[in-house]
Amino acid sequence: MSRQEVARVDLAEFKESQRRVWEAGDYRPVGRLIEPAAQILVSKAGVTTGQRVLDVGAGSGSVAVAAALAGATVVGVDITDAWFDEAYDRAHAVGVELDLGLGDAESLPVEDGCGAGATAAAMILERT
Ligand SMILES: C[S@@+](CC[C@H](N)C(=O)[O-])C[C@H]1O[C@@H](n2cnc3c(N)ncnc32)[C@H](O)[C@@H]1O
Repeated sequence: MSRQEVARVDLAEFKESQRRVWEAGDYRPVGRLIEPAAQILVSKAGVTTGQRVLDVGAGSGSVAVAAALAGATVVGVDITDAWFDEAYDRAHAVGVELDLGLGDAESLPVEDGCGAGATAAAMILERT
């Protein structure tokens, strides 16, 4: 096995462990706790009405909901769908829509040059 193959296997294992970690426990209170930070991120990113935003690592939707409230059309992806129901509940509670689906930050479901902005909150992606 080459060094490159070893790195690839390790990354797959890492992602699988990440998925299990994020599915464990109850993330919902944390999601609510970071709501103010999500609003700041969306504001600093200049998200406005009519924009299309891809929220990477959407979790329970703090950033996605804030972006939708700012008027964007939001698609969110996450390696787990464990908290999507919570995200939809939060969105519907404030009268906005989200479109969430399973997806990996390393293989995003958008084409190059599609013009969508992207947000990623509380995610650390490292690749050596
Ligand atoms: C701290 S939470 C993000 C919170 C979220 N941005 C919010 O606004 O509530 C981190 C999220 O990143 C997701 N994640 C981790 N690695 C990922 C990857 N490679 N691709 C997509 N999502 C990933 C986790 O499943 C988890 O839901």
